[in-house]
Amino acid sequence: MKDNLQIAIDGPAGAGKSTIAKGIAHRLGIFYVDTGAMYRAITYKAMSINIPLDQEEAIVELAWKCDIVLDHTEARKIHCDGQDITEAIRTPEVSRNVSIIAAYAGVRERLVDLQRREAQRGSVVMDGRDIGTYVLPEADLKIFLTATAEERARRRWLELQKTSKQISFAEVKRDMQMRDQTDQQREVSPLVPAADAIILDTTGLSVEEIIERIISLINN
Ligand code: DC
Repeated sequence: MKDNLQIAIDGPAGAGKSTIAKGIAHRLGIFYVDTGAMYRAITYKAMSINIPLDQEEAIVELAWKCDIVLDHTEARKIHCDGQDITEAIRTPEVSRNVSIIAAYAGVRERLVDLQRREAQRGSVVMDGRDIGTYVLPEADLKIFLTATAEERARRRWLELQKTSKQISFAEVKRDMQMRDQTDQQREVSPLVPAADAIILDTTGLSVEEIIERIISLINN
């Protein structure tokens, strides 16, 4: 395996990106960078200190001030200004609002800078929406994961069932569709597959099968 391997995994919510990326990082012993967690961190922070999310200037300023640290142990904690926010960023409220702040160019500039610095630390598998198209355009392997809207909502709903949050399947599906739409239609770095990405539909495939396919692509 080469020294500074870069694997980009993009796709819509619930396509399995983080599960697959974590599995690959574990198998290859390389860093995993969850870029969605960074956008969630800024959203959570703004909500917790009552900055209205439509105040772009204030949100961008907050993004540049926040000290976001991703921990690269298997615990995969995320801290913001010293506070462990790993669980707090996964609530339906944060999920509902994150697309708003992810559309701000100034927020993206700050987080892309952090993401590229993470990639300089060593071999990395990074997941998000614009990794192959913008953050790591020279990545060795670009994967665009998809699955049907029904399947993606089902996965996210099952995940949320493990937490104390009560939310119906219909609500999860509706929130997810709205989020996908905003992510696809925004002006800066919209969610689209890179021209050289391999598109992998994960509907009906097991996590292990998907990981195997991706690993075999790296080895080819
Ligand atoms: O992957 P996720 O669901 O945790 O991402 C949360 C949101 O962050 C998603 O709706 C879009 C945004 N995002 C983005 O715009 N660019 C990225 N590279 C990663 C996430």
